[in-house]
Order: sequence, then structure tokens, then C-alpha cells
Amino acid sequence: MNKTIRWGILGCGRIARKFASDLRLVKNAVPAAVASRDKLNADNFGRESGADQVYYNYEDLANSKDVDIIYVATPHGLHFEHVMLCLQHDKAVLCEKAFAINAKQANIMIETARKKNLFLMEALWSKFLPSYQKMIQMIEEGKLGKINNVLINFGFIPQAPVAPRIFDPALGGGALLDIGVYNVFFALSALGKPHSIEASMTSAVTGVDEQCAILFRYDNGAIAQLFSSFSSHLPTEANISGDKGRLLLGHRFYAPESTLEYYPGRYDTKQIVEVEKVKGWGYHYEIAHAGECLRKGLTESPVITHADTLLLMETLDDIRKKAGLRYPAD
Ligand SMILES: NC(=O)c1ccc[n+]([C@@H]2O[C@H](COP(=O)([O-])OP(=O)(O)OC[C@H]3O[C@@H](n4cnc5c(N)ncnc54)[C@H](OP(=O)(O)O)[C@@H]3O)[C@@H](O)[C@H]2O)c1
Repeated sequence: MNKTIRWGILGCGRIARKFASDLRLVKNAVPAAVASRDKLNADNFGRESGADQVYYNYEDLANSKDVDIIYVATPHGLHFEHVMLCLQHDKAVLCEKAFAINAKQANIMIETARKKNLFLMEALWSKFLPSYQKMIQMIEEGKLGKINNVLINFGFIPQAPVAPRIFDPALGGGALLDIGVYNVFFALSALGKPHSIEASMTSAVTGVDEQCAILFRYDNGAIAQLFSSFSSHLPTEANISGDKGRLLLGHRFYAPESTLEYYPGRYDTKQIVEVEKVKGWGYHYEIAHAGECLRKGLTESPVITHADTLLLMETLDDIRKKAGLRYPAD
């Protein structure tokens, strides 16, 4: 049961570096191999992460006999291509969010993994964080009563040099798939699938959404209002409000540093909710969980199921349709 999981990392960018750093916090998990298209970057990343193998193209990593699972950390416009590459070489995969460009791609990825009996999971790390877990616990305990309103903002102005993936349509650029995906995920977690969706966006010069405003409506009267922006700095907070109380997840609501405040009454009845302090960047939970799934021979995570991933992707598709946002891959 303590088999060491040998990780491969595909794409050596910013998030891959944080992931590799958190990999050190996980027992029975090692960075076995990394792959970058750039030799210097691959060599540097290999040295920093302590990986035994360094590859200069992704196919060699997918082909490697030395890895049990590959973490795909390329821009979301390339997730389909890179996840399929790994699956076709019989590798289990943990794929960064947004999982794909659209539900059509996500369905093919999931179907391929199922047919080949391979583990595939979306790296929606927030779902493992203590603040998220506490939020779900408080909702389930009825601390908020009937949830009537979800209000989430996530916005910042990308600082130069801006990574090409942020605004490039071919790479899946735009605020919705990059950061709004967290807003949608939290709203789905608190209220489930909406009955109807309205959405509107402001286009960047490249045609992707510079900002995106979304309204989810529910049969029971609940409304979620979600806003993501690459054109203004926003509080990046989540408010989940019901007829018995409100929960405020503070700045970077989707990340370990978020604070939790519970308001059982009016705005001035604040109670601080204690949550476990997170080590590292907070990615070690998903790494450990994926490893456990592999040891148990699972092909799907019981925490982030394929149905969860498809619901999220289908909802994002619906939002984009309403907002008029299309990608070359659609
Ligand atoms: N979970 C989280 O907290 C979190 C945070 C940030 C980002 N993400 C997700 O992680 C993914 C990567 O984001 P990032 O911020 O790490 O991006 P990044 O710094 O730009 O790195 C992406 C890497 O992808 C590889 N790549 C392959 N083809 C590429 C192309 N045509 N253009 C650009 N890069 C290409 C490159 O690696 P090589 O040159 O080494 O091959 C590049 O370094 C995105 O899907 C993003 O949504 C998740």
C-alpha cells in the first residue's frame, strides 16, 4: 500500500514549479521525470525538482517507463492534445484546470481514459483545501440555512511580461477559463447545477474575454452572481449567503491563505472560523490523493469525479455561448 508514485511533469512553467515544490511534502511520491520543449528550461527544472530523467519533448515523457502518472501543466488550450498524448502512451494523468477548452474535448479525454482503464483527474486543488472543506461542512450542517445568494469576484490586472496564454485564443486565453473557472466551481459546489444562465463579456483585442459577468438562476429562487476580470483588481472573495447566515471566504477564496468569516446574523456579527494551516503552496493534497487513487487501482477520483469535471465544462460552455465567446477548438 506504500508504493512510491513516480511523477512525470509535462510543461515546466510557473504552476509546474509550485507543484514540484509541493511534491516534496508528499510521502511515497517522487519527481521521476520532467519534460520541456526548451532544453535549458528542462535542465534547470530537472535540477530544481530533483527529477531523475529530463526530456526535451513531451512524447519522450509520455513514452517513459519510469513514470506512473503525468501532471499536465501546459496552457488549457493544449490540455486536450497533451492529455491524449499521455493516455495514448498508457499513462495516468492529473490535468490542470481548466481541464479542456470545451465539454466535447473533456468527454473524449474521459472516454479514452475509461476505455484504457487509466486514472484521469482534473487538478482542481481548491476542493482539497481546509477552507473549502470547512465551507462544505458548514453548508451541510445548515449553518447558512437555505442558500439564497452566492456572490464571487476574482480579478487582477496581469503584470508584464504577460504570459501568452493569458490572452491567446489558441491557448484558451481569457478570464473565464483561467480564473472565472474557480467562481463557477464554487457556485456549483454551494448551489448545484443552475436552472438558467445569463452571461456577458468585454472582449480583449484578441477576442477572448477580458472580463466576464455571469448570473446563475435556480428554481428555488437562489441566484449566483460571478465576475472575473483581467482588467481590474478585485477583492477576490466569495460570499455564500442563506436565510440563517453568511460565509465570507476572504481574499484568494480558492487558495490556502483565504480566511473564513461566519456571520450568523447581521453584517456586524462576525465569527472567525479556524481552519488548519496549509503547508507549502497547497498542492500536496491533490498530489497525495491522486497517489492514493493509483495505489487503490482507481481510474477516477471519488473527490473530483468525471461527472464533476463534465458538469463544470458543460457549464463553462453554456456561459461562453451566452457571452459570445468562441475558441478555435470549438
Ligand atoms: N492550480 C493552480 O493554482 C494554477 C495556477 C496557475 C495556472 N494554472 C493552470 O496551469 C496551466 C499552466 O499555467 P502556468 O501559469 O504554469 O503557465 P505558464 O507559466 O505559461 O507555463 C505553461 C507551460 O506550458 C508549456 N507550453 C507548451 N506549449 C506551449 C505554448 N504553445 N505556449 C506556452 N506554453 C507552452 C511551456 O512549458 P515548456 O516550455 O517547459 O515546454 C510553459 O512553460 C494553465 O492551464 C493554468 O490554468 C493552475
